[in-house]
Amino acid sequence: MSLFRLDASIRSEGSVSRAIADIVETSWREHAPDVEITRRSVGLDPIPSTSWALSAFAQRADPATFSLEQKAAVDLATALTDELLSADAYLFAVPLYNFGVSEHFKTWVDMIISDPRTGTQPIKGRPAVLVVVRGGAYGAGTPREGWDHSTGWIRRILEDVWGLELRVVETEFTLVGVNPALDEFKAMAAQMRVDSERVAAEHGRHLAATSTN
Ligand SMILES: Cc1cc2nc3c(=O)[nH]c(=O)nc-3n(C[C@H](O)[C@H](O)[C@H](O)COP(=O)(O)O)c2cc1C
Repeated sequence: MSLFRLDASIRSEGSVSRAIADIVETSWREHAPDVEITRRSVGLDPIPSTSWALSAFAQRADPATFSLEQKAAVDLATALTDELLSADAYLFAVPLYNFGVSEHFKTWVDMIISDPRTGTQPIKGRPAVLVVVRGGAYGAGTPREGWDHSTGWIRRILEDVWGLELRVVETEFTLVGVNPALDEFKAMAAQMRVDSERVAAEHGRHLAATSTN
């Protein structure tokens, strides 16, 4: 069995999204030991954002007319899509940045969609886990309710456009302990972390069960 794991955090040290995704991965491994994992860290090893427009237009053109840049972009989109198509299950870890989608994750999605093979939902029905982390808190009744403009879009792509069987684990208040202005929320943040770690382990078990059946 194979797992494709994508991390979008722009840091390695102290990354909460990586830590939560590690729990999903470890739980998956415990229940499916013979697993191959393909990793792509788009936050630390970004895909050039200029490659998307090149690939999107080149895909509709005659390959014989490709410039070197167009060929490189199409080859990259093909390689990224090969990685996606060859996995049995998926783990995506994507932080909230500037109230929106990580540009690195967005470029990766754009590149995948530029590959014509993805137009017919080739990975429909495969299991996936999305790990979302946010520095603040955006729940119902909070001052910034509705300000997370990332998670809804990611879910739209993964669930509706690609047809994945998606489970989501969300962790909020990751900036508590970092930003002193949030110190009053320490107990709440600690409980949120405990809860999301439990959910992450459950999702890992589910991923193993549904991708190995
Ligand atoms: C440049 C930058 C912008 C951020 N923007 C937001 C934001 O708009 N809202 C929010 O809740 N947290 C924001 N954060 C906080 C991150 O979501 C939070 O630190 C998260 O834990 C980062 O993921 P990581 O721990 O996996 O690196 C931002 C962090 C950085 C570095």
